[in-house]
Amino acid sequence: MKNIDWNEKGDGVIIIDQSLLPGEEKYIELTEPEEMYRAIKELQVRGAPAIGIFAAYALTALMRQELKPKAIRSCCGASGTSDEGFIQKLRTYGDLLRSSRPTAVNLGWAVDRVVHAARVEMFRARKEQPDRLNVNAGARRLAEAVKKEAEAIYHEDVEMCKSISRYGMEEMKRIAGEKGMEKMGILTHCNAGPLATSEYGTALGPLILASEEGTLDFRVFADETRPLLQGARLTAYELQKAGIDVTLICDNMASIVMKNGWVHACFTGCDRVAANGDTANKIGTSAVAILAKHYGIPFYILGPSSSIDRNCPTGSDIPIEERDPDEIREKFYEKPMAPEGVKCYNPAFDVTDHELITAIITEKGIIRPPFDKNL
Ligand code: MRU
Repeated sequence: MKNIDWNEKGDGVIIIDQSLLPGEEKYIELTEPEEMYRAIKELQVRGAPAIGIFAAYALTALMRQELKPKAIRSCCGASGTSDEGFIQKLRTYGDLLRSSRPTAVNLGWAVDRVVHAARVEMFRARKEQPDRLNVNAGARRLAEAVKKEAEAIYHEDVEMCKSISRYGMEEMKRIAGEKGMEKMGILTHCNAGPLATSEYGTALGPLILASEEGTLDFRVFADETRPLLQGARLTAYELQKAGIDVTLICDNMASIVMKNGWVHACFTGCDRVAANGDTANKIGTSAVAILAKHYGIPFYILGPSSSIDRNCPTGSDIPIEERDPDEIREKFYEKPMAPEGVKCYNPAFDVTDHELITAIITEKGIIRPPFDKNL
């Protein structure tokens, strides 16, 4: 089953609840806008490309609900503004979903794409009957355009991840060949695998592909990724399921495995790449990149072109999400592990300076510095 799909009626979305993994593999159905908003905010669905796909699917489901007779009357009156009403409602839902998390650019990008698709359909209908005033495509036709766009976003992501995986695997082979190594070591942070995307994933894609191909001997060190443990709960789970040699480490152990000579490249995903190559990803990613530089280990960002934001000139322009301090103080512990009321700072992402990045691997190829020119 896909990680994100529509329910049978097409008026709700079904996702695997990532917040319960790896203990429980539970699929949940969401039909209300507020629960869809919460699903993103509470990381039941997470990972930059996945939240974009989810938003597009959620908007499709919500707009299909508008096709029910009562709802059609509420948003699409006989006044001739019904297409505008439909698009206004789509925008309102889109704004709600987009407000759930600020850092990953894919979320707003996907919302904008489906709104644009509905508008294009509205104008197409008007063009078909140029002699008439107040022409409406109608809610059914607009909802169909939204659905088609959501499907396109999903299928494009599948293809992008495959392509990223192939380029990433070639790079792994090149490094392994150059150094004549017997067993290659890759370190990854957070989770950028199938759960966070559509099929192969981005940072984990080359590893899964190389394992399927069986031509490269490698092992993976997965940072546990405090405070929400995406590395421990999701990356270790996905790699173990794929039969890959994975060793879980605490975030503060990255330095020792690098010093031991066990890591030959770092692969991480991205939530937003600025025009100059500065990259926001899960909190702690920049520390990995700084360590990698110290030990002379190449550091790669892997992500689809939908994660590149040309409207963000540098990393300082990327909004960084701050989350509930209780995620640090007490989440996952039986009892709070810090003095009651202690101040906490809990940014969910940090920005890795472009100077620390060896290359950015997208579906279009391996992009090396200077990133401001080559991206
Ligand atoms: O807070 P999360 O779990 O959504 O953060 C996810 C990451 O930082 C991933 O590395 C990133 O979104 C890339 S997913 C292909």
